[in-house]
Amino acid sequence: MANFSLPEKSRVTAGRKHKAPPGAKRVMPFHIYRWSPDEGKNPRYDTYEVDLDTCGPMVLDALIKIKNEIDSTLTFRRSCREGICGSCAMNIDGTNTLACLKPIAEVKEAVRITPLPHLPVVKDLVPNLDQVYAQYRSIEPWLKAESPAPPDGERLQSKEERAELDGMWECILCFCCSTACPSYWWNGDRYLGPAVLLAAYRWIADSRDEATGERLDALEDPFRLYRCHTIMNCTETCPKGLNPARAIGKVKQMIAERKA
Ligand code: SF4
Ligand code: SF4
Ligand code: FES
Repeated sequence: MANFSLPEKSRVTAGRKHKAPPGAKRVMPFHIYRWSPDEGKNPRYDTYEVDLDTCGPMVLDALIKIKNEIDSTLTFRRSCREGICGSCAMNIDGTNTLACLKPIAEVKEAVRITPLPHLPVVKDLVPNLDQVYAQYRSIEPWLKAESPAPPDGERLQSKEERAELDGMWECILCFCCSTACPSYWWNGDRYLGPAVLLAAYRWIADSRDEATGERLDALEDPFRLYRCHTIMNCTETCPKGLNPARAIGKVKQMIAERKA
């Protein structure tokens, strides 16, 4: 009979508890995934009681407070604190999102925070993004054009052509969508996933780009593109309100149309 039990080292154990300071009135516990390759131990959930009266409103504010005031070993990525850089993507109460855009008021009484799922963990809340960035590189995310630009200016677009890029240029490559996609979980080594496919369509849809055929050729593959089964987790989870599933559908449609 098949054994479906988890490997020994993958079991998350109970961790340390850090109590709120005496006198704190509005206390919320944050259960945070901790794992360090240097310790050679199982991952654990450490609990940090945070005094919300002395904390900013977002989950990232709480993480920064924990790191500054309670436990400097807690490791996570962040930069802009305003939903632009994509680096604070993590799973908060079961949903992939940006910690800097997630109000503490919207989470449960005891929030659980883990790294983005189904990626190798570097440490604590930091996932290894090597694979997703290699896949991003593979779609050649830059303007490709043989014809020379006008000598006296830029390559112009009409308002309508520019509008075709709306819903795609806003992507911040946080990878909340790809790591919420079951197809990407199981075939992430070969399926490009929604974030990268959205980026691919961003260049296909660009009126100034002259490599559409070449780009579609590169995507026409049972794994790179067609592992998307329109489950829509990607669109549901995107913290920027984008619709990668729609972009994937457009690529599939263009490939079908050029065959017709
Ligand atoms: S629609 Fe496609 S890319 Fe989005 S979650 Fe579903 S399978 Fe993944
Ligand atoms: S589509 Fe949304 S969830 Fe996916 S990488 Fe871009 S911003 Fe993040
Ligand atoms: S810190 Fe930049 S998106 Fe959250």
